[in-house]
Amino acid sequence: MKTIFSGIQPSGTITLGNYIGAMRQFVELQNDYNCYFCIVDQHAITVPQDRLELRKNIKSLAAMYIAVGIDPEKAILFVQSEVPAHAQAGWMLQCVAYIGELERMTQFKDKSNGKEAVSAGLLTYPPLMAADILLYGTDLVPVGEDQKQHLELTRDLAERFNKKYNDIFTIPEVKIADVGARVMSLQDPLKKMSKSDPNTKAFISMLDEPKQIEKKIKSAVTDSEGIVKYDTVNKPGISNLLAIYSILSNYSIPELEEKYNGKGYGEFKSDLAEVVVQTLAPIQEKYYKLMNSEELDELLDKGAEKANFVANKMVKKMENAMGLGRKRK
Ligand code: TYM
Repeated sequence: MKTIFSGIQPSGTITLGNYIGAMRQFVELQNDYNCYFCIVDQHAITVPQDRLELRKNIKSLAAMYIAVGIDPEKAILFVQSEVPAHAQAGWMLQCVAYIGELERMTQFKDKSNGKEAVSAGLLTYPPLMAADILLYGTDLVPVGEDQKQHLELTRDLAERFNKKYNDIFTIPEVKIADVGARVMSLQDPLKKMSKSDPNTKAFISMLDEPKQIEKKIKSAVTDSEGIVKYDTVNKPGISNLLAIYSILSNYSIPELEEKYNGKGYGEFKSDLAEVVVQTLAPIQEKYYKLMNSEELDELLDKGAEKANFVANKMVKKMENAMGLGRKRK
């Protein structure tokens, strides 16, 4: 069976963008692949975090994984920092990566742009991500469009390591959804929807209440044409809403265009709000139940145990290939 790995940062409540671009795919894939889903807390500390908030967000993300439909009997769910092999392999891969290629990463440029104090971790973020993936012999990495560049670097690092030291890594493929790989901000449809957007109207959080969802969708930026048509160049706002609507309902985009032909944005938006509310309601219910139970800790302990077992073996292979430590019998 082929192996899948993906991770999400516990840096705030996840958004509809994370759900559509990543998590929804995970749920479908868990039946046919050997899956590892990770809460990447070490990636989260590349930018400042409040310790109590971070702790809360780790648990909250674990609950969200389960609430959207990840089955811990099928997939391995764990916290990155509870598997030290990630940091160990991350270091070795940092020594294989070049500063130049790390500086060229768009995420690094975006997150460091205009900042006075930028952590070194923000620069060396991608080799840690490569470690996450390569430790498990991953074949496929389901992510949103924004992670594509990191996946290309992961492949480069794996190939470089294999050539320079020993052929131990599987070269992973990226898996990006056909529609919804890049859910855009509701306030600026040329920017991606992000949980760290200072304008909370720009994103829908998975825990937003129906009233908030309605308000945010109603105030989503569109255009003055009044025609519900998919055209990402000239109508990015409406196109983004159409994509969200289509993914969360059984309608294709042409069917939706037909359904709202001759109708204004008001009706379209209020129907879309209803679709989002209906999608999130059962997820939220399950989430709150889990957050009030002991179940999560047990499940994450088990996940870490299984992940440690697999990851430690790969770290040994890497150390051996690079000549670290003493050879033991
Ligand atoms: P993160 O935490 O920013 O996002 C988690 C996942 O959600 C996707 N995503 C989106 N998809 C569509 N539209 C959007 N607006 C949107 N915003 C986010 C992301 O592409 C991602 O799939 N570096 C990663 C975390 C990571 C990882 C890994 C991923 C660390 N190690 C190993 C895969 C494999 C990140 O910051 O994702």
